[in-house]
Amino acid sequence: MTKIKTVDHLASIKSYDGVKPLEIIAKELNIPVAEIIKLDGNENPYDPLPEVIVALRSLKNISFYPDTLSSNLIQALAKKENLEANNFIISSGSDELIELLIRAYANPFDTVLSVSPTFGMISFLTQVHGIKYVTVPQQIVKTESFAHYILDEDQFLDVARRSKIVFIARPNNPDGNVVSQKFIERLISLPILVIIDEAYIEFSNYKSFAKYVPQYENLVVLRTFSKAYGLGGLRVGYGIMPSDIRKVLISIKQPYNVNIAGQKAAMAALSSPLVKQRIIEMKKIRAWFINQLKLLQNQYKNFWIHPSEACYVLLTFESPKVPKNLFEYLYSKGILVRHYSSSDMINNLRISIGLQEKLVKVIDEIKLFLKGEN
Ligand SMILES: Cc1ncc(COP(=O)(O)O)c(C=O)c1O
Repeated sequence: MTKIKTVDHLASIKSYDGVKPLEIIAKELNIPVAEIIKLDGNENPYDPLPEVIVALRSLKNISFYPDTLSSNLIQALAKKENLEANNFIISSGSDELIELLIRAYANPFDTVLSVSPTFGMISFLTQVHGIKYVTVPQQIVKTESFAHYILDEDQFLDVARRSKIVFIARPNNPDGNVVSQKFIERLISLPILVIIDEAYIEFSNYKSFAKYVPQYENLVVLRTFSKAYGLGGLRVGYGIMPSDIRKVLISIKQPYNVNIAGQKAAMAALSSPLVKQRIIEMKKIRAWFINQLKLLQNQYKNFWIHPSEACYVLLTFESPKVPKNLFEYLYSKGILVRHYSSSDMINNLRISIGLQEKLVKVIDEIKLFLKGEN
């Protein structure tokens, strides 16, 4: 092993484990890719959009570097959102923007704040950059069938006053909850950078904060083509922000951060009428799935369902043993759901919304498992 030491803050860094690709899972389980039901990454369950296939087939000039700003995509997004082009920046997934914002605005002595549980990338990227990351834990409140994470908003605002950057995923990952507009307005009134991650906003019945960006100098909204638009594998995200912040991010980003295929595919996806239809269908499937889970909950009573405004449903179990065993059981059947190792999530499983016929099988398998447990 090399004797050359890393920078101090990376000495004990734990890598971010992304979801495994289908081909690797198929090999591990020795089953065909087509038999795998992949519900662990909140990925879009439909076939690629036909407009995207056409755009990728007609790709030209791939020997040349891409447009550094993804200007056509910016124009299309600005038109769609009814905002100025100089409020938009395109990125290699919205993950890239989380990193750019931390790099640009957090000094080593600053604090980055979010809630827990939330999207793990924020904790990971603050650690990578040696920045102090603080969370305000949400309290779980259980009713008969449902569980809700509740945030003490006053406590959060108190810590926010001593922070430099606040990240709020809205809807939140992993539970799909949406914090109130009032709470966000209170946050934006503070002299801190407020980043609203709207990766799942298309699946929500709540309104985006994008239209408020021109009114504030400290509000950034993050979006992605990975979820509703089904382009997770092509890595395209975008941010809507004050032009001053955008200027800073453009000045530090890698020039060719979004490749030609990603830029073209995102343009094509934006033009597709199927996107809206599929979102409506996924929201219907989500309601049906929660109902099916509720029937199981009524019978077995050892878990609670988190109502969700996103493309996944979080379950909280009474003990860590059941979700761990259920995860392993489902995995052995070729069904992948998200099981967590972090201490605040050991009682949980998160299941992405897939096609209804696949979720019928998931419900059947969960039923079989719970029957065997009782
Ligand atoms: C809340 C949240 N934000 C951002 C992302 C990352 O999106 P992207 O694929 O655009 O990097 C995810 C991905 O799961 C997410 O859950």
